[in-house]
Amino acid sequence: MSAPMNQRTDNFCLNEPASCSRRCARSKRSSVRICCFFCAILSGILWLVMSSGLFNLPAAADDSPVNRPENKESAKTEDKKTDRYETRENHDPNGTGKFYLGREIALVMTFHGAPWLERPEREEEERLSELVKELKLKPGQSVADIGAGSGVITMMMADEVGASGKVYAVDIQQEMLDLLEDKLKDRKIDNVELVLGTDKSPKLTASSIDLALMVDVYHEFEFPFEMMLELSRTLKPGGRIAFVEYRREDPQVPIKLVHKMTEAQVRKEVEQPEFGLKWKETVAKLPRQHIVIFERPGK
Ligand SMILES: C[S@@+](CC[C@H](N)C(=O)[O-])C[C@H]1O[C@@H](n2cnc3c(N)ncnc32)[C@H](O)[C@@H]1O
Repeated sequence: MSAPMNQRTDNFCLNEPASCSRRCARSKRSSVRICCFFCAILSGILWLVMSSGLFNLPAAADDSPVNRPENKESAKTEDKKTDRYETRENHDPNGTGKFYLGREIALVMTFHGAPWLERPEREEEERLSELVKELKLKPGQSVADIGAGSGVITMMMADEVGASGKVYAVDIQQEMLDLLEDKLKDRKIDNVELVLGTDKSPKLTASSIDLALMVDVYHEFEFPFEMMLELSRTLKPGGRIAFVEYRREDPQVPIKLVHKMTEAQVRKEVEQPEFGLKWKETVAKLPRQHIVIFERPGK
């Protein structure tokens, strides 16, 4: 069988008669000598050109992991991530000393604060029923109470979405969820699901939520950027996310400074392109808080 065309030039004496083999051997020896001579000259020229620095090798030729384009990109992203938060020595004693976009992150209220959340005068001070009415919930919707605490607002929302709807009560403190669980049993409310989240994720399914609510919560997030990335993904297209924060613009609102946020600061933090959310409206009907609502476009 003859060798394929692309192998013939390398093995031109293959399968030839003996005389031809001797001739070939002689001609092979002289070819090798000529070849070596030219190779030596060529290497010399190459060495001279390279050492003269006339040509710079392109950066891509350095294929070490650090210099690969994709790794340079991810290194930049890492840097950005660490730049996102800043720690300052001088800070509000009620804050964490950790700053995000110029705002100091507040300390998380522990479950020992549950009685304050359930105080009877809260309705008068914060008009929770009006707050829930302003959310315009519909029966059958899936909603999330992020940072539900002991669940005062969760239970009001459960009423609004009805038996065909669902409320996900998310918190990072199991003790808060336990308090809520007892109340749900007592009141025979069965359209609420308790979810133990983490400081970076609400642990909800993507594109599953019609409205995510945060009452007096967002300013406590230890990782607001990461939480917002996750929260924006959990919204259905056309889904909304509502921030209820004490008005920092108003010195009359009797709440510690790091637990208050201006509308401008909320918008600055939420309207970052990474989240893909659009400001929809700000409701200013409550005595102490504003409700700043954003939408995930695309319905
Ligand atoms: C001041 S309480 C408000 C509770 C409730 N929204 C209310 O108004 O009655 C804040 C709650 O947010 C929770 N929280 C803080 N960071 C959180 C996070 N990353 N994810 C979920 N919950 C969080 C805290 O554990 C706490 O229960």
